[in-house]
Amino acid sequence: VEAAIADGPLKGKHVLVTSGPTHEPIDPVRYIANRSSGAQGTAIARALAALGARVTFVTGPADVARPEGVQVIEVQTAREMLAAVQGALPADAAVFAAAVADWRVENASGSKMKKDGKGSLPELVFAENPDILATVSRMEKGRPALVVGFAAETDDVVENATAKRKRKGCDWIVANDVSPETGIMGGDENAVVVITDDGAEAWPRMGKDQVAQRLAAAIAEALG
Ligand code: CTP
Ligand code: CA
Repeated sequence: VEAAIADGPLKGKHVLVTSGPTHEPIDPVRYIANRSSGAQGTAIARALAALGARVTFVTGPADVARPEGVQVIEVQTAREMLAAVQGALPADAAVFAAAVADWRVENASGSKMKKDGKGSLPELVFAENPDILATVSRMEKGRPALVVGFAAETDDVVENATAKRKRKGCDWIVANDVSPETGIMGGDENAVVVITDDGAEAWPRMGKDQVAQRLAAAIAEALG
């Protein structure tokens, strides 16, 4: 059941949000993943919906309640996430908060891998996943007017994120320091630096919900 769309500055706008980790199978019972909780992406989807946007929320497997009043598309892998994103376009804005696995296992097994009793080790062969953010940022036709990426870094946050923004071709990048000592991954708070054409703006550390609300408000302003 689709909830009624709220009234607000984003009424009539379609915004796409990716969120959560992706899972890349090794065999039917094992996978490669990362520590993303999906909390920030979920909060962003909720904040956009609260401002009246029609939101499509493409999420990997995350142990967090799904936002209400948005269209939720559940995926497992990076390639499924790309297909879901392409299927959900066009959009006025897209926010790529997912922690997409950079590599998948190219020689994933269709049946459970077993020990052979002689200590032989599996040889996993990796392939690079498609870059969803870069793919959408570089679309020649039907590119969302505003494309927002994230950059989770552990070192040289602003430098790395500024380079990432250029490399991917997105409009804004929301950078954060996910070093374990910050407690941001898996926590309730975030400390971000938002990088746009106008430079880097450091936001104070605040709740992930507040980061989401402030970002949604900035998106509403940018879309006019
Ligand atoms: N992203 C994506 N698809 C990928 C990898 C990343 O859409 N295959 C998006 C993320 O959702 C995020 C941004 O790109 O918005 C940056 O992700 P990040 O992992 O920081 O960048 P990478 O280019 O993968 O670089 P790194 O080697 O630092 O992981
Ligand atoms: Ca990455």
